[in-house]
Amino acid sequence: MLFLDSSDPKEIKDIFAWGVIAGVTTNPLILAREAGAVDLEQRIREVIAASKGPVSVELVSESEGAMMEEAHRYHTWAPGRIVIKVPFGEAGLRVTHALASQGIETNVTCIMSFNQAYLAALAGGTYVSIFSGRVRDMGYDVRPVIAETRAQLDREKLGAKIIVGSIRHILDVNEALAHGAHVVTVPPGILRKMLHNPKTDETIREFNAAWASRAK
Ligand code: E4P
Repeated sequence: MLFLDSSDPKEIKDIFAWGVIAGVTTNPLILAREAGAVDLEQRIREVIAASKGPVSVELVSESEGAMMEEAHRYHTWAPGRIVIKVPFGEAGLRVTHALASQGIETNVTCIMSFNQAYLAALAGGTYVSIFSGRVRDMGYDVRPVIAETRAQLDREKLGAKIIVGSIRHILDVNEALAHGAHVVTVPPGILRKMLHNPKTDETIREFNAAWASRAK
């Protein structure tokens, strides 16, 4: 399935009307770019109102105690909708495990390798987010990371779902799905590019022109 990687309520509302999106992911970089001057709680409430399904909101604290406090604060905004995005690491694993035992959903993020994804799933992450574009930025192939993670989740019947993010091209979406992603989170610009094919446009024009100029 597809999630939208955005914090822009107008864009989210517009694209949700297509009926193809099942959730939303945000991160501090996206929020800083799209809503830097806006109150975070207000912005996330707008995102929730404009969408359906899970909405991931990322922790920015770095110590375990502060991360737990931040996670509980975000969770109260919409307990059935907010997923706590936890940056991967030792503190992140502890927080993921603690939140899982409290029934709070998590999305363990900034994952670049199979071993990180496996640890995040074992700790009880609801989602594990593998960063396609950033893995490729390092010169590595992300496809085996996705495929090996999916195979291990299935082998051990772990509950975590793979989200592939950091999408830069349409091909990243197609490859992520083909290699076992449960979800791909796509920026609005890439999703809009997925609408278009010149042969489709040409064919529709041809059909409509033929109908308009038919013998009457
Ligand atoms: C999604 O959950 C990620 O936060 C996002 O896709 C990261 O993308 P980037 O590598 O373009 O910053």
